[in-house]
Amino acid sequence: MNTAPNSPVNLHEHARAAQAALGEAAWAYFSGGAADEHTLRRNEAAWQAWGLAPRVLRNLRGGHTRCQLLGRDWPMPLLVAPMALQRWAHADGEAGMALASAAQGCGMVLSHQSSTPLQDVARLVVAEQGRGPLWFQLYAMQERDALRALIAQVEAAGFEALVLTVDAPVNGVRDGERRHGLALPEGVHAVHWQPQAASGQSLCGGLADAAPTWADVQWLIGQTRLPVLLKGITHPQDAREALALGAAGVIVSNHGGRVLDTMPATAELLPRVAEAARTQRADALVLVDGGIRRGSDLFKALALGADAALLGRPALYGLAHAGARGAAHVLRLLRDEFEATLALTGCARVADIHPDLLWRLDPLRAAAPHP
Ligand SMILES: Cc1cc2nc3c(=O)[nH]c(=O)nc-3n(C[C@H](O)[C@H](O)[C@H](O)COP(=O)(O)O)c2cc1C
Repeated sequence: MNTAPNSPVNLHEHARAAQAALGEAAWAYFSGGAADEHTLRRNEAAWQAWGLAPRVLRNLRGGHTRCQLLGRDWPMPLLVAPMALQRWAHADGEAGMALASAAQGCGMVLSHQSSTPLQDVARLVVAEQGRGPLWFQLYAMQERDALRALIAQVEAAGFEALVLTVDAPVNGVRDGERRHGLALPEGVHAVHWQPQAASGQSLCGGLADAAPTWADVQWLIGQTRLPVLLKGITHPQDAREALALGAAGVIVSNHGGRVLDTMPATAELLPRVAEAARTQRADALVLVDGGIRRGSDLFKALALGADAALLGRPALYGLAHAGARGAAHVLRLLRDEFEATLALTGCARVADIHPDLLWRLDPLRAAAPHP
């Protein structure tokens, strides 16, 4: 891939360009994690606890990154994670992110807290040939009539699955937001749903009453013809329960370290959850996110049991400093790195990725920060 001089050559450089482009409050919101950010850092570091153990001299002819999931072809086993308020990062917002992901053959999950109407986002990309899947994420489950109406709009617009996020019944405590507040620019707000925390309620003062439960999951599955995935599953027993209720799959996620600090990294949690999910139901879909910054991280996610992965902050960083083109560049870099990793480990296709191609490294080395 040719890049102009000075343009970022990796996802870390996109992060630096975003920091330079964003104001302090926006940078704190987009980049920050909960409390002391142990989980945020651990998510990235944990992929480096695994080394790649390549096989050589294999036939790589006709290699590609396609896979078949949820009854359709995916050009690439990667989606952009649901992330709120993308028009705060750049005027291109969710529309730009959707165009970028479609252009790069990646999927996208639109957040319940999108700052762009879901119909506008869908209209831009649903007819695109070669795009990845378009999914919609939900948080709140309380106002049933409003939810029914929203689900009908999501289905009519052409979204292909619903993702219910279950790991953030209340906001995490983030120092960056305590310091700067959520100072949204004029005209930027969540157009489909505003979190209740805005009302200043406390947890014991009723906020947790709105937190979704297993009964809400069952209700949701009964309301839609779309497959439902639960995002924020990290315990094997929760994965079993989700699948027993009829969820199509689970997303192993700790919300990018933004909610409950000192949770283990998703790379550490993934193998047990994937095993439990597939034992419960062989066709269960298992996805993962958190700390993926290199194509080799994506490869490791698949080798540890995921069918596909989601990319969070780096896609926003590309968007923040260069709009849709920046987000597309981030996805393209990751895609190129993933293709190189496939070929260099002796895999012609995604289905060839296997745990045997990983090697557990010395934990002390894994703790070293990236340059
Ligand atoms: C700024 C920001 C906003 C987010 N908003 C949402 C959201 O609206 N819904 C959701 O399910 N997850 C949300 N997340 C979590 C992401 O979907 C994802 O789990 C996480 O960012 C993955 O980790 P990574 O950023 O290290 O790739 C958000 C993350 C960030 C950074």
